[in-house]
Amino acid sequence: QANGLGLTPPMGWNSWNHFACAINETVIRETADALVSTGLSKLGYEYVNIDDCWAEIARDYNGNLVAKNTTFPSGIKALADYVHSKGLKLGIYSDSGYFTCSRTMPGSLGHEEQDAKTFAAWGIDYLKYDNCNNGGTKPTVRYPIMSHALRNAGRPIFFSLCEWGDLHPALWGAKLGNSWRTTNDIADTWDSMMSRADLNEPYAEYAGPGGWNDPDMLEVGNGGMTKSEYEVHFSIWAISKAPLLLGSDIRKLDKETEEIVSNKEVIAVNQDPLGIQAKKVRSEGDQEVWAGPLTGYRVAVLLVNRGMYRYTVIAHWDDIGLPPITVAEARDLWEHKTLKNKFVGNITATVGGRSCRMFILKPVA
Ligand code: DGJ
Repeated sequence: QANGLGLTPPMGWNSWNHFACAINETVIRETADALVSTGLSKLGYEYVNIDDCWAEIARDYNGNLVAKNTTFPSGIKALADYVHSKGLKLGIYSDSGYFTCSRTMPGSLGHEEQDAKTFAAWGIDYLKYDNCNNGGTKPTVRYPIMSHALRNAGRPIFFSLCEWGDLHPALWGAKLGNSWRTTNDIADTWDSMMSRADLNEPYAEYAGPGGWNDPDMLEVGNGGMTKSEYEVHFSIWAISKAPLLLGSDIRKLDKETEEIVSNKEVIAVNQDPLGIQAKKVRSEGDQEVWAGPLTGYRVAVLLVNRGMYRYTVIAHWDDIGLPPITVAEARDLWEHKTLKNKFVGNITATVGGRSCRMFILKPVA
C-alpha cells in the first residue's frame, strides 16, 4: 500500500468495544477532548474512530451516505473539523457488503468510489472496512475496489481491512491496506484475548512499516480482566506491532487503565521504527517467551505466564536472537527500572499468575 501511512502501527480509539451501536456525536467529541486532556494524544493516540451505526439506513437521492440525523445531527464534516482542531484524526467505518454488520446502515459495495470521495470530502483520515452481508463474493475481489477508490479520493486515508482472518489477509492485505484483521471479534475476557494473540502470531513475518496484522482492538479498561491480565493484553499487542486502538470509555479513564495504556516504554516498543512483529519463540506449559528485534540491536522480550500460579520463566539468547556471548543490560518496562545485573546467555524472572514481565535487552560493550 503506497499511501505512505501506517509506518508504525496506528494508535487511537474506536467506539465499538465499549459503545457498540450506542454512539453519537457528543460521545465522539468528548472522547476527542478526553484524549487531549488525559495527555494520551501526546503519547501518540491520534485516531478517533467511529465504528458501525453512524449512518441512516437510506442513502440520499444522489446515492450518498448520510449521517444519522438523531445521533449525528451536525454531520461528519463538522465532527472531522472539530477532531482536527484538537490535533487529532477522524476515522470512520463502512462495509464491503450491502449492509454493515449491524444492518442499521448501508455498506459500500457498488458505491466504493462515491463513498471514498464522500469520506475524503468530509476530511476522514482512516477507514475501517468490514465484511458483512456481501452476498458470498470474495473479499479478495471486494477489498481491492475500495483500496483503489481510496487511493483516487484525493486524501490520504489509512485503510483497515476488517476481513476477520478467514482468507489469511496477511498474505494479500499489504498491497491493499495498512492493517488487516487476523481474527474474529475480541471479547473482554482473558481466554478471548489470549486466543486472538495466538491466532495473530503466525503471521508475524507479513507485518511491517505500512501494513500491520490486527488481532482486534484493545479491551483494556472495559472491566472483564484483572489489571495484570490487561497488562499482558497491552504488552502482547505492543510487542506484536498491533494497532493500539483503545476500546474503553476514556472520558471516564480510571487510574489503573491510564497506568497501563500510557506506559511510554511499552508504547515505544510498539512504535519502534524497525516495525518487526515479535514471535512466540518458546512455550513450555503455561510459560511463554515472546521476542522481537528493535532498533539499535536491542531486543524486546515478553515473558508471559498463562497459568494461575507464580513461575520462573527463562529467555535464552538462542531463542530471542542475541549472539550467545552478548552481554546485555535489561530494562524492566513495567517496573520502569534498569536492572543492576548484566546478563549473558539468558535472563530469568519470576512471573505471577496470568501476568507478564517485559524487558528491553540492550547489548553493552
Ligand atoms: C464486526 C467487526 O469485526 C467489529 O470490529 C465491529 O466493527 C462490528 N462488525 C460492527 O458491526
